Amino acid sequence: MVLADDLTDRMGKLLMTKGTVLTEKNLKICKMWGVIEAQIEGVSSDDVNSSVLDDYDPAAIAGFSESVRERFCHNDMDHPVIRELVRLCVLRAAEGRNSDADDFRWEPRLDEETPKHSKKKPVNANPLKFIGEHTKLSTLPDIYKHLSAAIAKPNSSTYDIENVISKDTNLSARLLKVVNSAFYGYPSRIDTLSRAVSIIGTRQLSTLAMGVNIINIFNKIPSDIINMKMFWKHSILCGICARILAGYKNIQNTERMFTAGLLHDIGRLVCYNYLGRESLYAVTKAKNSRRLLYLAERDVFNLDHALIGGSLLNKWQMPLSLEDMVRYHHEPEKSKNQLEPSIIHLADILANAMGIGTSGERLIPSLHEEAWLRLGMTPNILSLTIEQADRQLEDVFKVIFADDKP
Ligand SMILES: [Fe+2]
Ligand SMILES: [Fe+2]
Repeated sequence: MVLADDLTDRMGKLLMTKGTVLTEKNLKICKMWGVIEAQIEGVSSDDVNSSVLDDYDPAAIAGFSESVRERFCHNDMDHPVIRELVRLCVLRAAEGRNSDADDFRWEPRLDEETPKHSKKKPVNANPLKFIGEHTKLSTLPDIYKHLSAAIAKPNSSTYDIENVISKDTNLSARLLKVVNSAFYGYPSRIDTLSRAVSIIGTRQLSTLAMGVNIINIFNKIPSDIINMKMFWKHSILCGICARILAGYKNIQNTERMFTAGLLHDIGRLVCYNYLGRESLYAVTKAKNSRRLLYLAERDVFNLDHALIGGSLLNKWQMPLSLEDMVRYHHEPEKSKNQLEPSIIHLADILANAMGIGTSGERLIPSLHEEAWLRLGMTPNILSLTIEQADRQLEDVFKVIFADDKP
């Protein structure tokens, strides 16, 4: 392989000049410097990409392709990002890495008896009202206030944070497991909270703690409305993708991006929890008319889960940047700081495309061109992000969710 162009690192520093023959040693250097792509003489990325699919039965590929393209029906099929995502999804299907979206109860049981919700009409329901009225939603346990204060205070000491987190033994244990999981991939074990705080950082660990603990708040939603395991799988996957994408943009405190991904669809839990029947009505409507779920939600509630989630985080006095990422993940161009909501926007699309877990959406949300341009990335980054996320997901999911839940 011969370099067709000069090769630079992420900061633009020249690493190798055009014409260099890539040896094993050169490839190791590229890896060390975090180089993820290079132009090779006589080889286009389209050649590489399509040759991978050549190894499979064309009839099977055509079948997978049709069903994948159906899920992308709200996207521009000629867009380079969508073309690449469709290719990756078809490849995943061909490799037998099937999605588990079918585990979600796609067929809402509106006709069956759901006593808790059946008396509510699927019109004029206002989820924001529940945020104000229910204590569980309007106030968070004290630990969040302390964590929030620690995040807001730039000079919080290791001792301050350790002191807050260690009061909750379950949280401390879970955080240590996250720190020792594939999420960080540290070569040696981190045994104590104080070491975890000093290695990861006070604000970073507090943000992570906040997200990890919030999972416990919605734990009693009837399983005939949503499969919580699937919901959190989608959310954790979105968080992992967001953190990886943020790393490519050299964003500091990528834990914040993970937590935003983890909470991005939390507005849906408010609806599923308090307005189950109306939510199922929206899911059915979206399914029957092949609409995106967040648009069907607007028909039923006059607002969507992103706005509900943003309002909930506001009520909880979470950091504004988290609130923004949640509130604008379907419309990042409406946020003042567009970069971070754009990352969650793309991470959500990736998580939906991978089809692992689900928060109720059957289709792939539309990619906003403005968001993609704002990220300034190339489509090659998508396969690397998905591969990396795949490697981390099971480990992180086991630690955060499956540990103490059925
Ligand atoms: Fe969403
Ligand atoms: Fe989502």
